[in-house]
Amino acid sequence: MNSNSKIGIFDSGLGGLSVLNTIRSLLPNESFIYIGDSGNAPYGTKSKEEVLRLSTAICDELVASDVKAIVIACNTATSAAVTQLREHYSIPIIGMEPAIKPALKQTEGQVFVLATEMTLKEEKFQKLVESVDEEHRIIKIPAPEWVTCVEEHLEDQNYIKECVSTFLEHHCPNAQNIVLGCTHYIFLKPQIEAYFKGKIEIFDGNMGTALQLKNSLDGLGLLKNDGSAEGTVEIRNTKSEQYVAKSVQLIAQLRK
Ligand code: DGL
Repeated sequence: MNSNSKIGIFDSGLGGLSVLNTIRSLLPNESFIYIGDSGNAPYGTKSKEEVLRLSTAICDELVASDVKAIVIACNTATSAAVTQLREHYSIPIIGMEPAIKPALKQTEGQVFVLATEMTLKEEKFQKLVESVDEEHRIIKIPAPEWVTCVEEHLEDQNYIKECVSTFLEHHCPNAQNIVLGCTHYIFLKPQIEAYFKGKIEIFDGNMGTALQLKNSLDGLGLLKNDGSAEGTVEIRNTKSEQYVAKSVQLIAQLRK
């Protein structure tokens, strides 16, 4: 393993492709192996032990492919497994964090955090809230249906629009600030913005994770240093080849 090795990145499915996209915009010369565990999605409603087991199996596969770092592009897997994974592997393991710090800093009033059940109930998130939300402005909203929406219905614009607006109508029709604490939800940003007619501030943790990865690789002298060529992306998916093709298509869409 050296600075020319690839970076491993994984999620319970398609959501982490949005993180991959942000990382590539920051580190265009790096190459990646992305594993989407769509065969086992969703993670958010599983037990912590099960998510740790699934995450470990994926990290083993990435380490066997000689990656120089692993990005857990999934808030749920980060909550359930980042501590144990960091203890277990010697390469840097970078996780996600719901962007509540910038949201509280840059806005007033209530901040609605949409994430999976597991992310919202795990100790990691509770501690984060305790440390920054002195005025108790954070409102937690699990949105498991949005994971299914992205994982299975992303091609059906009418379905997505209906799913997003019904949910928002029911849970936070007057929100002015939303934190997307699940990487799948980031694919629904256009529909969320449309529902609020643009009068909404949306925060996500993608750039925070990308910067953390960059700093970590830099600190270890592992950033790729041939500034010329654009890096490559290899996609693997535990569900089917169709999901690999779907991922490739989504990557192309995100880059437009
Ligand atoms: N994309 C994941 C996250 O950021 C979880 C989705 C799921 O599998 O429940 O939390």
